[in-house]
Amino acid sequence: MKIAIYPGSFDPITLGHLDIIRRAAACFDKVYVCVLSNGDKKPTFTHQERVELIRSSVEGLENVEVETYGGLLADYAREKGSCVLVKGLRNATDFDMEYQMAAINRGIWPELETIFFPARLEYQHFSSTMVRDMIHYDQPMERYVPAPVAEALKQRKARQI
Ligand code: PNS
Repeated sequence: MKIAIYPGSFDPITLGHLDIIRRAAACFDKVYVCVLSNGDKKPTFTHQERVELIRSSVEGLENVEVETYGGLLADYAREKGSCVLVKGLRNATDFDMEYQMAAINRGIWPELETIFFPARLEYQHFSSTMVRDMIHYDQPMERYVPAPVAEALKQRKARQI
């Protein structure tokens, strides 16, 4: 069974992330989407909120599971019996960062490979940071995030008012 891990901070998931999940799910028997901490970033959504937003977005993708993990990505991959990490690449800045992370992960576990999926043109400028900004300025979310996430964000905003 070919198992892949799609790791990220997903704060929150965007349509670009969902596109990578769909494409990975078509290539592997099983894909674990894992919400992890990125030490550099101060989170907006809790891990559990992010997991729930992703779960609502991947409904119908039978071979995709969503989890969160508090430790090292390489340890999570080992626990899942997978030596393949999937990452999306939008541009050269992503490449520089992801190339380093792939080397760090291989340093921890030499068999751990990272496979890159190039972002589709329409999602090349998408990021969770941009989405958080759009939430702040009350922009229509449907353009940037999966429909169930847009709905959840709307309800969350209504509760805060
Ligand atoms: O979506 P992001 O923020 O680019 O994802 C980065 C993430 C969360 C995958 C990375 O920071 C990570 O793997 N964190 C878990 C801790 C770890 O394993 N660090 C070593 C690899 S960089």
